[in-house]
Amino acid sequence: MDFSESEQMTFSGQKVLVTGASGFIGFHLCQSLIRLDAQVYGISRKSKTNFESNIHWCKGDLADLISVRRLLTTIKPDIIFHLASYVSGSRDLKVVLPVFNSNLLSTINILAVSTEIGFRRIILAGSLEEPETGDFEAIPASPYAAAKMASSAYARMFHALYQTPVVIARLFMVYGPRQQDLRKLIPYVTLSLLSKQAPKLSSGRRQVDWIYIDDVVSGLLSMAHAPNVEGHTIELGSGTLVTIRNVVKQLVNITESNVKPLFGSIPDRPMEQVRIANTAKTYDEIGWKPMTTLEKGLEYTVNWYRKHLTRVEGIVS
Ligand SMILES: NC(=O)c1ccc[n+]([C@@H]2O[C@H](COP(=O)([O-])OP(=O)(O)OC[C@H]3O[C@@H](n4cnc5c(N)ncnc54)[C@H](OP(=O)(O)O)[C@@H]3O)[C@@H](O)[C@H]2O)c1
Repeated sequence: MDFSESEQMTFSGQKVLVTGASGFIGFHLCQSLIRLDAQVYGISRKSKTNFESNIHWCKGDLADLISVRRLLTTIKPDIIFHLASYVSGSRDLKVVLPVFNSNLLSTINILAVSTEIGFRRIILAGSLEEPETGDFEAIPASPYAAAKMASSAYARMFHALYQTPVVIARLFMVYGPRQQDLRKLIPYVTLSLLSKQAPKLSSGRRQVDWIYIDDVVSGLLSMAHAPNVEGHTIELGSGTLVTIRNVVKQLVNITESNVKPLFGSIPDRPMEQVRIANTAKTYDEIGWKPMTTLEKGLEYTVNWYRKHLTRVEGIVS
């Protein structure tokens, strides 16, 4: 990825805090920030010895206000990317509280403490799973969607009441190398096909806006320096809808697999969102547009998993 002059000026020498740095998007974002010469701080609930030595790792649970206060007053970041989250589309009652803690409570803790101590900008990860903005009676489809919707509402309130310099990045379905949650569609299907096992799938009829990880990272970086976007929600997606079935077919072709995916062997989730990113609006606001086609992105992803198959093999069986 090439960086613009204004990106280099924005990040070089700056203290940049990335929550969720050990996760899929956080990992890729931190790599770019390091190349941009930022001082990168990552937060994780686990100790990170001998791991990504270019990152200053700090241990803490963002659902714990005392930890958040200790971390933010010690680091004093200039820019924050708040990506930490319990990412799950599950409708199970058991996920309600962990999702609340690691999404909504964590976000409010970060917004409240960072606003108290002051900083340049915070970029918050929102989601395509949130119901459409403006529909105040919309029913979120999952505990995750409810937490993300409420987090965005708090962010807008912090901006309106306390002038918190927050920008909400509404991320669509992100895919690419190193996605660690191997239950997510693209890693799961890719690894199943590479291991010659038939992936068990829903009907595959859901239409999704898929966006490659490098495009998401460049969009997040742009949000940190674009002028006049505080309080706004900016969508990072491809602007096209492709069904799950179509993506799975492409993965079968790329992997040259003879395995037949088992569509319809698990039920479709109720109330699935079908949303498409408004990329024209995003271009107007931050000058960003997606650069990676789905075909290319899937090819890069499969190549990465193929190369690392021995490390992740066994997890899908
Ligand atoms: N991937 C997508 O397609 C997608 C789409 C829309 C939105 N998003 C949003 O983008 C963000 C990043 O997603 P991702 O796919 O990179 O997620 P991910 O791989 O699951 O990583 C999430 C990270 O959050 C950290 N975390 C969770 N709870 C925490 C807590 N209480 N305190 C501190 N850290 C905590 C975890 O770190 P430790 O386990 O090391 O503590 C984990 O590495 C999330 O906010 C997600 O909702 C993602």
